[in-house]
Amino acid sequence: MNDNSPILRVNNICKSFAENNILNSVSFQLNKGEIKVLIGPSGGGKSTLLQCINCLVVPDSGDIMLENKQIDFSSKQDLYSLRQQVGMIFQDFNLFDHLTSLDNITIALRKVKKIDKNEAEKRARIELEQVGLGDKEELYPAQLSGGQKQRVAIARALAMDPKILMLDEPTSALDPELIGEVIAVIKSLAQQGMTMVMATHQISLISGLADEILFMENGKIVEQGPPSSLLTAGSSSKTQGFCDRLNELSEVEG
Ligand SMILES: Nc1ncnc2c1ncn2[C@@H]1O[C@H](COP(=O)(O)OP(=O)(O)O)[C@@H](O)[C@H]1O
Ligand SMILES: [Mg+2]
Repeated sequence: MNDNSPILRVNNICKSFAENNILNSVSFQLNKGEIKVLIGPSGGGKSTLLQCINCLVVPDSGDIMLENKQIDFSSKQDLYSLRQQVGMIFQDFNLFDHLTSLDNITIALRKVKKIDKNEAEKRARIELEQVGLGDKEELYPAQLSGGQKQRVAIARALAMDPKILMLDEPTSALDPELIGEVIAVIKSLAQQGMTMVMATHQISLISGLADEILFMENGKIVEQGPPSSLLTAGSSSKTQGFCDRLNELSEVEG
C-alpha cells in the first residue's frame, strides 16, 4: 500500500431498515493515524454508519475499502477478516458477564486468532496494564464500575491489533465521575497514533481529539471539517450550534 493512500474509504453507503432510509449515500476517507469524530442529532445514523463500516450491519449499497481492498459484502471470509481488523467499542461495553476481565480479552485471541492460552494471557495482561486495570484481571464485569468495564472493552479491542478502532459513544452510559478515566484512555490511544472513528457528545473529545468532525443528520454527512474551522466562537456552523447546546446542557446538569 502506498503510505499516502487512505487506510479506509467509505463510498456512497446506503442502508434502509424496512421502508426507512437510514444512511443516504455516506462517503468519507480515513488516513492512517487520523481521528474522525461523528456528531449530530440522535437518530441521524451515526451508530448505523459505524456498524456498516465493519459490516455488523451490511450496507445495501456502496463500497468499503480497507487498505485498497474492496470488501465483498457477500463473502463470509471478507466480513470475518474486516471485523478482525476494525475493532468496535460500544456504549454499553458488551462484555461477557460470565467471564473475568482476563478471559473477556483472551477468548477472542484464542478462538479467533488461535493464540495459545499462555500467550493470550500474556497479551491480555499487557492490554489491561495499558488501560490501568492490571490488578483487576480476576474480576467479573458485575464487580467492576462502568468506567472499568469500558476500559476492559477497550483492552479487549486493542488485544486484537486492530488497524482502526471505532467507538460508539463510549462514555454515554457512564456516570459523570467515571467519564474522565475513559477519556484519558482514549486520549492516550490518540497519542500513540491509533486510527479512530468515534461517535461522541463529549466536547473534550470533539474539540480536543478530532482531526476532522463529521456532522451527520438524516443519514447524511451535512458538514465536515477540522475543529479549527467548524468550532470558532460565533461561527454559524451546525457543529458550533450543536456544541453550544451540549455546553449549555452540561452547565444545567452541573
Ligand atoms: N436494526 C434496526 N432496525 C430498524 N431501525 C433501525 C435499526 N438500527 C437503527 N435503526 C433506526 O435508524 C435510525 C438511525 O439510528 P442510529 O444509527 O442509531 O442513529 P444515531 O446513532 O445517530 O442516534 C433510527 O431512526 C433508528 O431507529
Ligand atoms: Mg448512536
